[in-house]
Amino acid sequence: MAVIGIVREPEGEARVAATPATVGSLRKLGHEVVVERGAGSAASYPDDAYADAGATLVDRAQAWGGEVVLAITAPGPEEIALLADGATIIALLSPALRPDLVESLAQRGITALALDAVPRISRAQSMDVLSSMANIAGYRAVVEAAHEFGRFFTGQVTAAGKVPPAKVLVAGAGVAGLAAIGAASSLGAIVRATDPRPEVADQVTSIGGEYLPVDVAVEKSTDGYAKATSEAYDRRAAEIYTEQAADVDIIITTALIPGRAAPRLITASDVARMKPGSVIVDMAAGQGGNVEGSVAGERVVTDNGVIILGYTDLASRLAAQASQLYGTNVANLVTLLTPGKDGVLTIDFDDVVQRSVTVVRDGAVTWPPPPVQVAAAPAKAPVASGRQAQGPEGEAPAKKGLSAGRKALLIVLGIAALFAVNAFAPAPLPQHFTVLTLSVVIGFYVIGKVHHALHTPLMSVTNAISGVIVVGAMLQITDPNPVVQVIAAVAVLLASINIFGGFAVTRRMLAMFTKGGQK
Ligand code: NAI
Repeated sequence: MAVIGIVREPEGEARVAATPATVGSLRKLGHEVVVERGAGSAASYPDDAYADAGATLVDRAQAWGGEVVLAITAPGPEEIALLADGATIIALLSPALRPDLVESLAQRGITALALDAVPRISRAQSMDVLSSMANIAGYRAVVEAAHEFGRFFTGQVTAAGKVPPAKVLVAGAGVAGLAAIGAASSLGAIVRATDPRPEVADQVTSIGGEYLPVDVAVEKSTDGYAKATSEAYDRRAAEIYTEQAADVDIIITTALIPGRAAPRLITASDVARMKPGSVIVDMAAGQGGNVEGSVAGERVVTDNGVIILGYTDLASRLAAQASQLYGTNVANLVTLLTPGKDGVLTIDFDDVVQRSVTVVRDGAVTWPPPPVQVAAAPAKAPVASGRQAQGPEGEAPAKKGLSAGRKALLIVLGIAALFAVNAFAPAPLPQHFTVLTLSVVIGFYVIGKVHHALHTPLMSVTNAISGVIVVGAMLQITDPNPVVQVIAAVAVLLASINIFGGFAVTRRMLAMFTKGGQK
């Protein structure tokens, strides 16, 4: 049975790495949990709640002396000295930026797992603290902006006058950006967003934003993160930011390319074009800043009265929620590391998630891990060379379309068949056949062009059409001709499959929105 220590975070960090609920999950895996007194108090989790969840309250040295230590902030030299021989520490270690820290952890002969190195693959989503914290931070960025902004976000028509809606620009539509777009649009603002990955356009519009495309090609992501943008892209994007700065009230920047300083998007002259009282939240202030003039951790007011917030603790400002999600991410990782649920922690280097997060193993530096290849977007159409596009994470390759020659041949054959039927078949078959052919062609093009978002209403229409088919086929089924009877029976069967299949799909979709009903 491993003893897991939950430590109190340093001053300025209100979150905690485990909540009473996640302590319960850790204990179910066979571990004993010790919590430093006061560890959860800043996040509204009192000591008593941990004790009720079965944890033992201890002092600082005992919590840091656990066989496994769960923390948020990377340990300093003093904490590293408190770690027990052979211990395992799980925290945000920023191994790419802090080789010195990795080296000092290795010198202690311990094992260190960096939660911020979880790969962005579907299987690891339940452990991805960067995403869960960025989601909270994006929401909080909007709350901070709304707090500073002297007006409503939503538009109103009142007896006292008309209030226009606020305009918000979100630069970078990753996890934090999408959370900010969702929060700002649900407050009623007009929200616009930019991102070099055009595949995010649908996500932006689906949560109420408008995607501003920068019509310059960018290199496609292979690992779920953005690549550096080209000079041509940056030039065009800069023009868009300059235009937008003069129009919008709030700018929230979240642009990030892993392993690099944050790209500079908003210049001082853009800020100078903004109206007094406008607010900018530079979420990347801690990585060098997307906005000229932002200061990490500070609130700055420019000469023209624009407020620039460079807060780096946005997730910590929602400490109870952030601790719950962080704690759940950590508990999910510990579950992966305790396959026998017997309190025995193991690290399997054949598992890509465990390999990626391990930066030091028994005193040996294992950072950086081999790269993990994942595509961020679904496969596009096949490339011109005829090679098939590869789907993400083992998805089936995209289907190859018909060549132009074959298409032309099929069309000519179809027209010839239509003429033959019209010339030789007895009346009224030619009229019926012509109507059927035209319906198939029109149906194919109309349905093929319907946007994914409209598939549900489309399904209702096809259900109604199927209903008409069933009625028509039932009228024909009494015909003395056995061929007509068989065709009518087949029509009833196929249309019924469509109708009942539609009901089944609708039921499943509705269940997804019902509490506890997700299949
Ligand atoms: P992410 O990787 O999911 O999203 C970053 C987005 O920026 C990507 O969609 C990328 O395509 C986009 N991007 C890259 N270059 C761009 C450019 N030149 N112009 C416009 N967009 C560009 O990252 P995530 O998790 O959303 O984090 C965003 C930022 O927020 C990071 O800098 C992160 O460190 C920061 N953050 C800040 C917190 C705070 O308290 N201030 C808390 C959590 C995250």
